[in-house]
Amino acid sequence: MRSLLFVPGDSERKLEKGLASAADVLLIDLEDSVSVARKDAARDIASAFLRERRAAPRPRLFVRVNDFSTGLTDADLAAIMPARPDGIMLPKANSQADAVDLSARLRVAEAEAGLPDGSTPIIAIMTETAAGLLAASTWREPMPRMAGLTWGAEDLSADIGAVSPRNEAGVYTDVFRLARALTLLAAAASQTAPIDTVFVDFRDIEGLRRECQAAARDGFTAKMAIHPDQVAVINEVFTPAPEAVDAARALVRAFANAGDPGVVGIDGKMYDRPHLKRAERLLARAAALEQ
Ligand code: COA
Ligand code: MG
Repeated sequence: MRSLLFVPGDSERKLEKGLASAADVLLIDLEDSVSVARKDAARDIASAFLRERRAAPRPRLFVRVNDFSTGLTDADLAAIMPARPDGIMLPKANSQADAVDLSARLRVAEAEAGLPDGSTPIIAIMTETAAGLLAASTWREPMPRMAGLTWGAEDLSADIGAVSPRNEAGVYTDVFRLARALTLLAAAASQTAPIDTVFVDFRDIEGLRRECQAAARDGFTAKMAIHPDQVAVINEVFTPAPEAVDAARALVRAFANAGDPGVVGIDGKMYDRPHLKRAERLLARAAALEQ
Protein backbone atom coordinates (compact mmCIF):
# COMPACT_ATOMS: atom_id res chain seq x y z
CA MET A 1 0.00 0.00 0.00
CA ARG A 2 1.58 3.22 -1.22
CA SER A 3 -1.22 5.56 -2.33
CA LEU A 4 -4.63 6.05 -0.72
CA LEU A 5 -6.97 8.31 -2.72
CA PHE A 6 -9.86 10.07 -1.00
CA VAL A 7 -13.08 10.07 -3.00
CA PRO A 8 -16.24 11.81 -1.76
CA GLY A 9 -18.70 8.96 -1.16
CA ASP A 10 -21.64 10.83 -2.69
CA SER A 11 -19.99 11.33 -6.10
CA GLU A 12 -20.55 8.48 -8.53
CA ARG A 13 -18.45 10.30 -11.09
CA LYS A 14 -15.43 10.58 -8.80
CA LEU A 15 -15.83 7.00 -7.60
CA GLU A 16 -15.56 5.86 -11.23
CA LYS A 17 -12.54 8.10 -11.76
CA GLY A 18 -10.95 6.76 -8.60
CA LEU A 19 -11.38 3.23 -9.81
CA ALA A 20 -9.57 4.13 -13.04
CA SER A 21 -6.66 5.67 -11.11
CA ALA A 22 -3.57 3.71 -10.11
CA ALA A 23 -4.26 4.20 -6.41
CA ASP A 24 -3.60 1.18 -4.20
CA VAL A 25 -6.53 2.10 -1.97
CA LEU A 26 -9.63 4.28 -2.42
CA LEU A 27 -10.78 6.00 0.76
CA ILE A 28 -14.49 6.30 0.04
CA ASP A 29 -15.48 9.19 2.25
CA LEU A 30 -18.68 9.48 4.24
CA GLU A 31 -17.17 12.13 6.54
CA ASP A 32 -15.80 15.63 5.92
CA SER A 33 -16.18 15.78 2.14
CA VAL A 34 -19.90 14.93 2.40
CA SER A 35 -22.41 17.53 3.62
CA VAL A 36 -24.86 16.60 6.37
CA ALA A 37 -27.69 16.73 3.85
CA ARG A 38 -25.90 14.16 1.65
CA LYS A 39 -24.92 11.62 4.33
CA ASP A 40 -27.75 9.20 3.48
CA ALA A 41 -27.13 9.52 -0.24
CA ALA A 42 -23.42 8.88 0.30
CA ARG A 43 -24.12 5.68 2.25
CA ASP A 44 -26.37 4.41 -0.55
CA ILE A 45 -23.98 5.36 -3.34
CA ALA A 46 -20.94 3.97 -1.53
CA SER A 47 -22.56 0.64 -0.68
CA ALA A 48 -23.89 0.19 -4.23
CA PHE A 49 -20.40 0.95 -5.54
CA LEU A 50 -18.85 -1.63 -3.17
CA ARG A 51 -21.33 -4.30 -4.21
CA GLU A 52 -20.60 -3.76 -7.89
CA ARG A 53 -16.83 -3.59 -7.60
CA ARG A 54 -16.11 -6.20 -4.97
CA ALA A 55 -14.60 -8.70 -7.40
CA ALA A 56 -11.80 -6.40 -8.61
CA PRO A 57 -8.56 -6.88 -6.65
CA ARG A 58 -7.35 -3.28 -7.02
CA PRO A 59 -7.78 -0.66 -5.78
CA ARG A 60 -8.75 -1.90 -2.36
CA LEU A 61 -11.91 -0.12 -1.20
CA PHE A 62 -11.85 1.35 2.30
CA VAL A 63 -14.68 3.49 3.65
CA ARG A 64 -14.10 6.47 5.95
CA VAL A 65 -16.99 6.52 8.41
CA ASN A 66 -18.04 9.48 10.54
CA ASP A 67 -16.27 9.68 13.90
CA PHE A 68 -17.80 8.51 17.17
CA SER A 69 -18.68 12.02 18.42
CA THR A 70 -21.16 12.51 15.55
CA GLY A 71 -23.45 9.64 16.51
CA LEU A 72 -23.41 8.61 12.84
CA THR A 73 -20.83 5.83 12.99
CA ASP A 74 -23.18 2.92 13.64
CA ALA A 75 -25.55 3.88 10.84
CA ASP A 76 -22.55 4.19 8.51
CA LEU A 77 -21.38 0.70 9.47
CA ALA A 78 -24.88 -0.74 9.15
CA ALA A 79 -25.10 0.58 5.59
CA ILE A 80 -21.55 -0.29 4.53
CA MET A 81 -20.58 -3.57 6.20
CA PRO A 82 -23.07 -5.80 4.33
CA ALA A 83 -21.42 -4.53 1.13
CA ARG A 84 -18.08 -5.94 2.37
CA PRO A 85 -15.61 -3.06 2.25
CA ASP A 86 -11.92 -4.00 2.20
CA GLY A 87 -11.43 -1.89 5.32
CA ILE A 88 -12.68 1.00 7.45
CA MET A 89 -10.96 4.32 8.13
CA LEU A 90 -11.73 5.89 11.51
CA PRO A 91 -11.26 9.66 11.65
CA LYS A 92 -10.70 11.67 14.84
CA ALA A 93 -9.54 8.62 16.79
CA ASN A 94 -8.78 10.06 20.21
CA SER A 95 -6.74 7.11 21.50
CA GLN A 96 -6.14 3.43 20.78
CA ALA A 97 -9.30 2.75 22.81
CA ASP A 98 -11.31 4.15 19.88
CA ALA A 99 -9.75 1.56 17.56
CA VAL A 100 -10.57 -1.17 20.10
CA ASP A 101 -14.15 0.17 20.22
CA LEU A 102 -14.42 0.14 16.41
CA SER A 103 -12.96 -3.35 16.35
CA ALA A 104 -15.72 -4.58 18.67
CA ARG A 105 -18.38 -2.99 16.45
CA LEU A 106 -16.78 -4.56 13.37
CA ARG A 107 -16.87 -8.00 14.99
CA VAL A 108 -20.61 -7.71 15.40
CA ALA A 109 -21.06 -6.35 11.87
CA GLU A 110 -18.88 -9.12 10.45
CA ALA A 111 -20.94 -11.78 12.22
CA GLU A 112 -24.17 -10.24 10.95
CA ALA A 113 -22.84 -9.98 7.40
CA GLY A 114 -21.45 -13.53 7.42
CA LEU A 115 -17.88 -12.28 7.10
CA PRO A 116 -14.91 -13.97 8.79
CA ASP A 117 -14.12 -12.62 12.23
CA GLY A 118 -11.40 -9.98 12.04
CA SER A 119 -11.50 -9.71 8.27
CA THR A 120 -12.03 -5.94 8.10
CA PRO A 121 -8.83 -3.94 8.68
CA ILE A 122 -8.78 -0.46 10.24
CA ILE A 123 -6.78 2.64 9.37
CA ALA A 124 -7.08 5.35 12.04
CA ILE A 125 -6.41 9.08 11.87
CA MET A 126 -4.89 9.78 15.26
CA THR A 127 -4.07 13.50 15.40
CA GLU A 128 -7.19 15.36 14.33
CA THR A 129 -7.98 16.68 17.80
CA ALA A 130 -5.75 18.04 20.56
CA ALA A 131 -6.91 15.16 22.77
CA GLY A 132 -5.95 12.64 20.10
CA LEU A 133 -2.49 14.13 19.76
CA LEU A 134 -1.95 14.13 23.52
CA ALA A 135 -3.00 10.45 23.62
CA ALA A 136 -0.46 9.39 20.99
CA SER A 137 1.34 7.25 23.58
CA THR A 138 -1.72 4.98 23.91
CA TRP A 139 -0.87 3.44 20.51
CA ARG A 140 1.39 0.77 21.91
CA GLU A 141 -0.30 -2.58 21.51
CA PRO A 142 -0.11 -4.25 18.12
CA MET A 143 -3.69 -4.90 16.95
CA PRO A 144 -4.16 -7.54 14.25
CA ARG A 145 -6.84 -5.41 12.62
CA MET A 146 -4.72 -2.29 12.21
CA ALA A 147 -3.60 -1.63 8.63
CA GLY A 148 -2.13 1.79 9.31
CA LEU A 149 -2.04 5.01 11.29
CA THR A 150 -2.18 8.43 9.74
CA TRP A 151 -2.44 12.05 10.75
CA GLY A 152 -4.43 15.09 9.78
CA ALA A 153 -3.56 18.77 9.90
CA GLU A 154 -6.75 20.57 8.90
CA ASP A 155 -9.03 19.29 11.67
CA LEU A 156 -6.26 19.71 14.23
CA SER A 157 -5.75 23.33 13.21
CA ALA A 158 -9.49 23.92 13.59
CA ASP A 159 -9.39 22.27 17.03
CA ILE A 160 -6.50 24.36 18.36
CA GLY A 161 -7.54 27.58 16.60
CA ALA A 162 -4.54 27.87 14.29
CA VAL A 163 -5.12 29.97 11.18
CA SER A 164 -2.97 27.64 9.08
CA PRO A 165 -0.91 24.51 9.77
CA ARG A 166 1.98 25.92 7.70
CA ASN A 167 4.03 29.09 8.08
CA GLU A 168 4.69 31.70 5.35
CA ALA A 169 7.45 29.50 3.89
CA GLY A 170 5.02 26.55 3.56
CA VAL A 171 6.64 24.58 6.40
CA TYR A 172 4.43 22.90 9.00
CA THR A 173 4.54 24.72 12.35
CA ASP A 174 5.50 22.99 15.61
CA VAL A 175 2.19 21.39 16.61
CA PHE A 176 1.83 19.81 13.17
CA ARG A 177 5.42 18.64 13.04
CA LEU A 178 4.78 17.05 16.42
CA ALA A 179 1.64 15.34 15.07
CA ARG A 180 3.61 13.98 12.13
CA ALA A 181 6.44 12.72 14.34
CA LEU A 182 4.11 11.13 16.89
CA THR A 183 2.31 9.29 14.10
CA LEU A 184 5.60 7.71 13.03
CA LEU A 185 6.35 6.72 16.61
CA ALA A 186 2.86 5.43 17.37
CA ALA A 187 2.87 3.34 14.18
CA ALA A 188 6.28 1.88 15.01
CA ALA A 189 5.29 1.15 18.61
CA SER A 190 2.03 -0.54 17.60
CA GLN A 191 3.64 -2.24 14.59
CA THR A 192 1.48 -0.84 11.85
CA ALA A 193 2.09 1.19 8.69
CA PRO A 194 2.72 4.93 9.06
CA ILE A 195 0.81 6.81 6.37
CA ASP A 196 1.54 10.47 5.61
CA THR A 197 -1.27 12.99 5.44
CA VAL A 198 -2.68 14.68 2.32
CA PHE A 199 -1.00 17.48 0.37
CA VAL A 200 -3.90 19.83 -0.33
CA ASP A 201 -2.33 21.96 -3.09
CA PHE A 202 -3.22 19.43 -5.77
CA ARG A 203 -1.86 21.41 -8.74
CA ASP A 204 1.64 21.60 -7.20
CA ILE A 205 3.07 18.21 -8.22
CA GLU A 206 6.71 19.16 -7.52
CA GLY A 207 5.74 20.32 -4.02
CA LEU A 208 3.98 16.97 -3.55
CA ARG A 209 7.07 15.12 -4.76
CA ARG A 210 9.28 16.91 -2.22
CA GLU A 211 6.83 16.14 0.56
CA CYS A 212 6.68 12.45 -0.49
CA GLN A 213 10.47 12.21 -0.52
CA ALA A 214 10.74 13.75 2.94
CA ALA A 215 8.05 11.38 4.21
CA ALA A 216 9.72 8.29 2.72
CA ARG A 217 13.08 9.37 4.17
CA ASP A 218 11.57 9.76 7.63
CA GLY A 219 9.87 6.34 7.65
CA PHE A 220 6.40 6.76 6.16
CA THR A 221 5.55 3.96 3.74
CA ALA A 222 2.48 5.51 2.09
CA LYS A 223 0.68 8.80 1.56
CA MET A 224 -2.92 9.82 1.16
CA ALA A 225 -4.08 11.77 -1.91
CA ILE A 226 -7.05 14.00 -2.64
CA HIS A 227 -6.79 14.13 -6.43
CA PRO A 228 -6.05 11.42 -9.04
CA ASP A 229 -3.19 13.54 -10.43
CA GLN A 230 -1.29 12.96 -7.16
CA VAL A 231 -1.29 9.17 -7.36
CA ALA A 232 1.54 8.58 -9.85
CA VAL A 233 4.10 10.57 -7.86
CA ILE A 234 3.11 8.92 -4.60
CA ASN A 235 3.38 5.43 -6.11
CA GLU A 236 6.74 6.27 -7.62
CA VAL A 237 8.30 7.65 -4.45
CA PHE A 238 6.95 4.92 -2.16
CA THR A 239 7.97 2.02 -4.41
CA PRO A 240 11.33 0.74 -3.14
CA ALA A 241 13.95 1.44 -5.82
CA PRO A 242 15.40 -1.68 -7.53
CA GLU A 243 18.92 -0.71 -6.37
CA ALA A 244 17.69 -0.48 -2.78
CA VAL A 245 16.02 -3.90 -3.08
CA ASP A 246 19.23 -5.40 -4.54
CA ALA A 247 21.33 -3.89 -1.76
CA ALA A 248 18.92 -5.20 0.89
CA ARG A 249 19.04 -8.70 -0.65
CA ALA A 250 22.85 -8.61 -0.67
CA LEU A 251 22.91 -7.58 2.97
CA VAL A 252 20.52 -10.34 4.06
CA ARG A 253 22.63 -12.84 2.07
CA ALA A 254 25.86 -11.60 3.65
CA PHE A 255 24.46 -12.12 7.15
CA ALA A 256 23.17 -15.59 6.22
CA ASN A 257 26.45 -16.62 4.56
CA ALA A 258 28.40 -15.51 7.63
CA GLY A 259 26.23 -17.69 9.90
CA ASP A 260 23.95 -14.89 11.12
CA PRO A 261 26.50 -12.95 13.19
CA GLY A 262 25.89 -9.62 14.93
CA VAL A 263 27.91 -7.67 12.43
CA VAL A 264 29.38 -8.04 8.93
CA GLY A 265 31.69 -5.97 6.75
CA ILE A 266 30.80 -5.40 3.08
CA ASP A 267 33.03 -3.35 0.77
CA GLY A 268 34.78 -1.71 3.70
CA LYS A 269 31.61 -0.74 5.57
CA MET A 270 30.15 -2.09 8.80
CA TYR A 271 26.59 -3.43 8.95
CA ASP A 272 25.00 -4.61 12.19
CA ARG A 273 21.57 -5.77 13.37
CA PRO A 274 19.65 -2.49 12.79
CA HIS A 275 20.88 -2.50 9.18
CA LEU A 276 19.66 -6.08 8.80
CA LYS A 277 16.27 -5.20 10.31
CA ARG A 278 15.92 -2.25 7.92
CA ALA A 279 16.84 -4.43 4.94
CA GLU A 280 14.31 -7.10 5.94
CA ARG A 281 11.58 -4.48 6.31
CA LEU A 282 12.32 -3.08 2.86
CA LEU A 283 12.21 -6.56 1.31
CA ALA A 284 8.92 -7.33 3.05
CA ARG A 285 7.44 -4.10 1.68
CA ALA A 286 8.73 -4.81 -1.85
CA ALA A 287 7.31 -8.34 -1.69
CA ALA A 288 3.92 -7.07 -0.49
CA LEU A 289 3.75 -4.68 -3.46
CA GLU A 290 4.28 -7.56 -5.88
CA GLN A 291 1.20 -9.43 -4.66
N1 COA B 1 -11.26 11.17 -6.83
C1 COA B 1 -11.71 10.85 -8.05
N2 COA B 1 -11.85 11.73 -9.05
C2 COA B 1 -11.49 13.00 -8.80
C3 COA B 1 -11.01 13.39 -7.54
C4 COA B 1 -10.90 12.42 -6.52
N3 COA B 1 -10.46 12.72 -5.30
N4 COA B 1 -10.71 14.71 -7.58
C5 COA B 1 -11.00 15.14 -8.82
N5 COA B 1 -11.48 14.12 -9.55
C6 COA B 1 -11.88 14.14 -10.95
C7 COA B 1 -12.88 15.26 -11.21
O1 COA B 1 -14.18 14.79 -11.01
C8 COA B 1 -12.58 15.62 -12.63
O2 COA B 1 -13.21 14.70 -13.49
P1 COA B 1 -14.24 15.20 -14.61
O3 COA B 1 -13.50 16.25 -15.37
O4 COA B 1 -14.55 13.97 -15.39
O5 COA B 1 -15.41 15.74 -13.86
C9 COA B 1 -11.11 15.36 -12.79
O6 COA B 1 -10.75 14.47 -11.73
C10 COA B 1 -10.28 16.62 -12.68
O7 COA B 1 -10.63 17.29 -11.50
P2 COA B 1 -10.27 18.82 -11.29
O8 COA B 1 -11.12 19.68 -12.16
O9 COA B 1 -8.81 18.96 -11.42
O10 COA B 1 -10.64 19.07 -9.79
P3 COA B 1 -12.07 19.43 -9.19
O11 COA B 1 -12.15 20.92 -9.05
O12 COA B 1 -13.14 18.73 -9.93
O13 COA B 1 -12.01 18.77 -7.76
C11 COA B 1 -11.57 18.64 -5.42
C12 COA B 1 -11.18 19.31 -6.74
C13 COA B 1 -10.60 19.06 -4.34
C14 COA B 1 -12.99 19.06 -5.04
C15 COA B 1 -11.52 17.10 -5.63
O14 COA B 1 -10.21 16.79 -6.01
C16 COA B 1 -11.97 16.27 -4.49
O15 COA B 1 -13.16 16.07 -4.27
N6 COA B 1 -11.01 15.68 -3.72
C17 COA B 1 -11.31 14.79 -2.64
C18 COA B 1 -11.76 15.56 -1.43
C19 COA B 1 -11.90 14.70 -0.21
O16 COA B 1 -12.32 13.56 -0.28
N7 COA B 1 -11.54 15.24 0.95
C20 COA B 1 -11.60 14.53 2.19
C21 COA B 1 -10.26 14.13 2.70
S1 COA B 1 -9.15 15.45 3.03
MG1 MG C 1 -11.27 15.88 8.33
